[in-house]
Amino acid sequence: VTQNEIGIRAATAADAPALARLRFTFRSEQHSVIESEDEFVARCEPWMRDHLGGGRNDGWRAWLAEQPGPGAFFGTLWLQLVEKLPNPADEAELHAYITSVYVRPEARNAGVGSRLIEAALTTCRDLEVDTVFLWPSARSRALYARHGFTEPSDILSQRLGR
Ligand SMILES: CC(C)(COP(=O)(O)OP(=O)(O)OC[C@H]1O[C@@H](n2cnc3c(N)ncnc32)[C@H](O)[C@@H]1OP(=O)(O)O)[C@@H](O)C(=O)NCCC(=O)NCCS
Repeated sequence: VTQNEIGIRAATAADAPALARLRFTFRSEQHSVIESEDEFVARCEPWMRDHLGGGRNDGWRAWLAEQPGPGAFFGTLWLQLVEKLPNPADEAELHAYITSVYVRPEARNAGVGSRLIEAALTTCRDLEVDTVFLWPSARSRALYARHGFTEPSDILSQRLGR
């Protein structure tokens, strides 16, 4: 697969079945899973359909990389807009959380991940997002650095999860 054959577009609710399978592929590649693919897809697909359907207004959107025509999806990226409180000062009123950035192994290192990240960042700029944040894997740090991500000096966080 060459990069030119792969297009990037915003995902819709109709993409939920394939996106749910891609999510399982991504997570099961890196972690041992506690759910079968079918069990996972049965709960993830309706979640994705719901959150991409526009009815919830909770800020979730996704992009996908695909070949022209009906074909396989090669990659995806999810983003949630995080609302700040209304602000009387001249400050942006949104942050954005990027997650589930994934390109299938056979399509990697040809710029697809970069194009997904740029699609998301273009939307963030259009929406005048303040801060875009994500948790990189060790290997993807260089990729995000090339797209302008730096380690913050002004955010405090506390890990409560496992
Ligand atoms: C990260 C990922 C989406 C990049 O997709 P891609 O289409 O290969 O991206 P690009 O071709 O635009 O950029 C290639 C860069 O990705 C990074 N990369 C390459 N292989 C990678 C891998 N297996 N895992 C993570 N990052 C990787 C490298 O920084 C590489 O550039 P470099 O070798 O010059 O440093 C893809 O490698 C992937 O899905 N990895 C596994 C899942 C993952 O780690 N996701 C990120 C979690 S936040």
